[in-house]
Amino acid sequence: MNRRQLLIGGSAAAVAVGGATWAGVDQLGSMTRYVAAVAESRAALSANPGFAELVRFATLAPNGHNTQPWRFRITPGGIGILPDFTRRTPVVDPDDHHLWVSLGCAVENLALAAAATGHVGEPRYAVAETGAIELALRPGRAVDSALFAAIPQRQSTRGDYDGSPLETADLHRLAVAAEVPGVETVLITDRAAITRVRDLVIVGNSAQMGDAAFVRELKLWLRFNPHDALRTRDGLFSVASGSPAVPSFAGPWLFDRMMTATSEHARYARQLDTSSGVAVFVGAAATPDHWVAVGRACQRFALQATVLGLKCAFVNQPVEVAGLRPELAALVGMAGQRPDLVLRFGRGAALPYSARWPVAAVLA
Ligand SMILES: Cc1cc2nc3c(=O)[nH]c(=O)nc-3n(C[C@H](O)[C@H](O)[C@H](O)COP(=O)(O)O)c2cc1C
Repeated sequence: MNRRQLLIGGSAAAVAVGGATWAGVDQLGSMTRYVAAVAESRAALSANPGFAELVRFATLAPNGHNTQPWRFRITPGGIGILPDFTRRTPVVDPDDHHLWVSLGCAVENLALAAAATGHVGEPRYAVAETGAIELALRPGRAVDSALFAAIPQRQSTRGDYDGSPLETADLHRLAVAAEVPGVETVLITDRAAITRVRDLVIVGNSAQMGDAAFVRELKLWLRFNPHDALRTRDGLFSVASGSPAVPSFAGPWLFDRMMTATSEHARYARQLDTSSGVAVFVGAAATPDHWVAVGRACQRFALQATVLGLKCAFVNQPVEVAGLRPELAALVGMAGQRPDLVLRFGRGAALPYSARWPVAAVLA
């Protein structure tokens, strides 16, 4: 190779690198487009919404890994909510606990939206008979509620909070909102007890990040930039979790290098240390109908928190790693029972919302 060839080779390489960089940025997609699309799924209900619009509000519910493991069956008499087992996450959720809890969160949104738009009906767990949780609806008086209004604003906010304590009256409002038969909600605001939860979260996180199958499954649901998040409209979008957007090809590689046990532990320690409190939800039994009830309670709690200007985020490691459940149960004074969910709450800045599938894609 002569010097001229070398120069050409060098400049070609530079162009290639430049081209790859440019292509990489282009592949990230536009955050403006992402925000506009997400805002559309969160728009207020129209004056006289049909059942499909109520379904849109149901899909705004929190759900494990944002897999959206649900289908909705609309009939003239109401709406059925069915599990979609093709969207399960068998490693982190081997018994479909989170899947049923996610359905419960969607059921609560649907019930609130139906009531607010002049429909009367109480959800019924009828999976053995019809495969669904059934919400039979008949016309009635519209019952507006602050919880309903908070549905499009609620988000899982994974940032640090400001650590400020809550007024007793607000804690009471949160506890009352979460009252659902068959579910105990324990609020922890004592700093020493929050620290014990924090340590369980860190131990659980170590176990999960050391489990190759867990990491493999998690990576399937990570969306590293607006382009990917909008293409799939599901999964865990880095920017919505407070991380930067990176090209898809680099994401898994960066994940392996950046998400070290040490950095993750420091992040979780900060997140728990700056939370005002932790809510632990415990269903009366470990069955799908009780998990649906847990989802309803948890969603009511999260919506009430939103009404109060608070943020929430799940830190479920102590319930996902089965060996940690007994210690968490003892910590909340419910030894012998299975704790279902751990949610931290406090005051903090909002993050971008996560995406949802369009209604047409989730109709059965
Ligand atoms: C049953 C259940 C378990 C969840 N577990 C976790 C968790 O352990 N850690 C976490 O960061 N988010 C967790 N989430 C939150 C989801 O990732 C989140 O709801 C989803 O990405 C949609 O985002 P959104 O809640 O902001 O709408 C969980 C949600 C549900 C319903």
